[in-house]
Parts: sequence; structure tokens; C-alpha cells
Amino acid sequence: MNIGIHDLDVATTHYVLKLDSMAEALGVDPAKYQLGLGQDEFSVPAPDEDVVTMGAHAAKRLLDRNDPSKIRMVLFATETGIDQSKAAGVFVHGLLGLPTAVRTVEFKQACYSGTAALQTAVNHVARYPEDQVLVITSDVARYAVDSGGEPTQGAGAVAMLVAADPNLVVIEPQSGVFTADVNDFWRPNDSSTPFVEGKLSLDAYLDATIGAWDDLAARRDLNVSDIHRFMHHQPFTKMARKAHTKLAEHVGVELGSELIEESMTYNRRIGNSYTASLYFGLAAQLHGNEDLAGKRLGLFSYGSGSVAEFFTAVVQPGYTEHLHPETVAESLDSREEITFEQYRDLHNAYVGESENYETATVTDAPFRFTGVTDRVRQYEAR
Ligand code: HMG
Repeated sequence: MNIGIHDLDVATTHYVLKLDSMAEALGVDPAKYQLGLGQDEFSVPAPDEDVVTMGAHAAKRLLDRNDPSKIRMVLFATETGIDQSKAAGVFVHGLLGLPTAVRTVEFKQACYSGTAALQTAVNHVARYPEDQVLVITSDVARYAVDSGGEPTQGAGAVAMLVAADPNLVVIEPQSGVFTADVNDFWRPNDSSTPFVEGKLSLDAYLDATIGAWDDLAARRDLNVSDIHRFMHHQPFTKMARKAHTKLAEHVGVELGSELIEESMTYNRRIGNSYTASLYFGLAAQLHGNEDLAGKRLGLFSYGSGSVAEFFTAVVQPGYTEHLHPETVAESLDSREEITFEQYRDLHNAYVGESENYETATVTDAPFRFTGVTDRVRQYEAR
């Protein structure tokens, strides 16, 4: 049975910071960000936006053109957890008015968990072909100010509907998986920003690329030349280039940069969106001008800590009729540019759940985070 991504849509934040502004304010050569990291700008949430509002917005765009009554499961992947107990997807379920006969859970393993959710959805549909599963990847990458990670921040959500006989891509059986216990990037429960061993994280990512590829190649009769385009997890887009070069060296085959180029266009402008990053890469690849019908895509998913997966997907005939690149263009182009000082003020104004507060109305998106009452996060559907 063919199972995969039937529809896909995205959302991001109200604000954007151009990295040239950060470079100027910090006295850094702008080329370090543009060329060294491969980033131009990043999305910054307004006080009334979070992973729930972005995830619900991306999912609403899907549900407005699909039949919500077919959804039996909502899988919300994030590492920006808003509660230690309640799944963020339950808030989304309520905001979207989904039926009660739905299973809803949250997945966590750094940036990788979106792929765990996607594969779980595929497995569910393999058993219950009439069901559809809503997978939401949504994150805010928020690093400490003046840390190495600060220019690699970002935020966004990608929602995917997983179904039999999908309109966009079929996820092929057998992927390559990899787990290694590494402390390259982690966020303790009492910290709103992660701790990062930058150099170790690059090495851990590259080790995982090779480990997952080797497992895939051992399980399937598959060569890199069988893959038409590659999408790698993009904490910053230069990392995808490093992974691509490493893979080429490892297999001893020249892999041109045109194989990854298109997948980086959205992430250069969004920044790291953790669980959503790989799927913004997929969206960018599908939205490009090239006709990909019948072509095989290779996707590499990495989550620090570390867990990784290399898997493949085959683009379906007629897929372009089911794409909505205009929502991505609208999401990116309508962001309000802020100055470096405004961004730092927003960053420093972060509030936890320990006191009651109301957020200012900033976003014009369909869902708002309105504040905290008696330690309960409050949301509004407009
Ligand atoms: P850094 O110290 O800011 O930068 O840390 P650098 O000095 O290493 O320079 C970066 C690149 O810019 C280098 O290129 C420089 O040569 C170049 P490279 O040698 O790597 O090819 N450069 C310039 N290029 C042009 N003109 C110039 C110039 N100056 C320098 N003037 C680091 C970089 C990535 C460590 C930092 O940004 C960081 O800590 N980021 C966060 C961690 C991260 O993203 N790690 C990636 C792998 S782990 C991962 O992907 C998982 C993650 O998404 C989280 C999760 O799974 O949940 C992060």
C-alpha cells in the first residue's frame, strides 16, 4: 500500500530579524552569517505566539481544504514543550474543533521527533488505511543572547496530513536509523535556552549522517545515485552542505550542490525551526520549478542527543496541483521587520508560567496565546 504525505502547509511568526542587523549591532562581518552559516534572517515570535498558535495555524490551513472527520490521531512534535504533562497537540485539537474520537500525543527527541511522528503516522495508516493522521512539527529555537547559537535562532511550524494514496509523496518502507548518547545540545527542565557544545554538535550530526545512511544502505538495495534530490536537517543551511559533502566523501561519489540547493530557500529566511526544519526543506524542494513527479527524494533527520533517520520518499504524479506555495510566500513576506534592539527586548521579556499575565495583541494570525491564568496557558481562536 502507498502511504505518505497527502497535504502539507506551514506557518511562522509575526516578526523577522535580518541577520545584517544583528551583524551590524554585534560588530560581526555579515558574510559570516550569509556565507559561513548560510542564513539571511530569522523568524521571531510576538508575545502572543508560541508553538501551539503556529502549529494550529499550519494545521488549520490543511483542514480548510481536507475532511477533518477522517483524522484519528494528532501527533505534535516539538522540543519547545509548553507543559511537562499536557501535550501541546491537545490545545491544538481544541482550537481546531476536532472530534473527540481522536488520539493526541506529543513527541520529543530534539529536532528528530517530527520524523518519529511522521513514521508513526505512516505505520498507523498501514494498519487502518481509511484513517488520516495529522502530524504537526512546531518549534521556537531560542538560544542565550551572545551565544554561538544566537544567529541560528528561528521559529516555524509545518503540518502534514498522512494518508493512503497520498497526493504529494509516498514514504518508502525501510529507513536507516541511528542513536548515539551524546551531550551535544540539551535543555534542562529549568532552562528556557539550551546548552550547546557547538563543535561537538557538528561532529555528532555528521557521524549520525553516516550512521543512518549506512543502516539504510545495508537494508535496501539503494545507492546515492538512486536519489534525485537530498534534504538534510538545517539548523543553519551551511550544515546541510557539510552533511552533503561528508556523505559524498563517505560513499566515494561526487554529489553536486544542485542536489540540495532548492531545499534551503525557506530555511535561509526562517532560521532553525528544529522539528519543522526538515519539512520546510521538503516544502521548499516541492515548491521549486523542477518537475519532480516520479522522482525519489532522500531525507535526513537529525536530533541532538542524538537520534537520526535517513529515509526516502517518491513524489507523486500530479503533485503540483496540490501544493500551496502561496501560503509560504505570504507567511514569509508578511512578517514585520524589527530592529536588533527590538528583538533583544522581546528575547529578554520572556515570561514563564509562574505568574498571571496577559499578552499584548500583536499577531493577526487565527490563533493567539493570550497569557497565563492560575498557571494555565490561555489561547484564543479568532
Ligand atoms: P561560531 O563560533 O559562531 O562560528 O559557531 P564559527 O567561527 O565556527 O564560524 C561558522 C562558519 O562561518 C565557519 O565556516 C567559518 O569559517 C565561517 P565552516 O568552517 O564551518 O565552514 N566564517 C565566515 N565565512 C565568511 N566570511 C566570514 C566568516 N567568518 C566565519 N567573515 C556554531 C558556529 C554552529 C557552532 C554555532 O552557531 C552554534 O553553536 N549553533 C547551535 C548549534 C548547532 O546548530 N549545531 C548544528 C548541529 S546540531 C543540530 O543540528 C541539532 C539542532 O538543530 C538542535 C536539535 O536537534 O534539537 C541544533
